[in-house]
Amino acid sequence: MGKVAIAIDGPSGAGKSTIAKLLAKELGFIYVDTGAIYRTVGLYVFRKGLDPADEEQVVSILPEVNIELTYKDGVQCMFLNGEDVSGAIREHQISSYASKVSAHPPVRAFLLEKQRDYAKKFSVIMDGRDIGTVVLPDAEIKIFLTASSEDRANRRYLELIEKGQKVDFETVHRDIKERDFNDANRATAPLKAADDAIVVDTSGNTLEQSVELLRNIVKERL
Ligand code: DC
Repeated sequence: MGKVAIAIDGPSGAGKSTIAKLLAKELGFIYVDTGAIYRTVGLYVFRKGLDPADEEQVVSILPEVNIELTYKDGVQCMFLNGEDVSGAIREHQISSYASKVSAHPPVRAFLLEKQRDYAKKFSVIMDGRDIGTVVLPDAEIKIFLTASSEDRANRRYLELIEKGQKVDFETVHRDIKERDFNDANRATAPLKAADDAIVVDTSGNTLEQSVELLRNIVKERL
């Protein structure tokens, strides 16, 4: 079998990364979390004290950003200028920075080839917002994974609490809805299902049920 690409897009908290990680392991594919790449740019902008919504400011620092993606025991690690920032990019406030910097076309162009390179070298399951539409339009399988904003906020809330971060449900829900709006309404590569994507709504599902659904789609299509 040649290189195979599976694209999983959808709003935040739909379960993309958890499910993609599990399936990648089962299939022996590389899992690429593209949101982590945007988060790394967001983190740099945050640390520099810049306004993530200001395209000119964000573009001016791109030449200083060297992003590397490595795998430790099969787990994706993000390096920013040589520093392992895998934990730092998951801080709640970085989500909104990532969403804002990702709306600027030069940021998307800057990261495009990096993402495509992985699919050239390996069989991948790549998750993000525009993988099926822009990054890998020829992916063999495209899935658009979604769920109600309440369900997604609840999952994200439990994840953050488990990591010891101090957040309340209402704030997480509000932030998720704001990010949905930003991600779906930006002019360049907005969050939307590719015409040939299979749309899967995981509202009310357990993780096992969602994994089984996607596993069956992948089995059928491969
Ligand atoms: O998947 P995530 O929540 O970690 O992504 C963080 C932000 O990055 C998200 O709000 C939108 C942006 N993003 C994007 O624009 N395109 C992608 N392929 C992946 C993420």
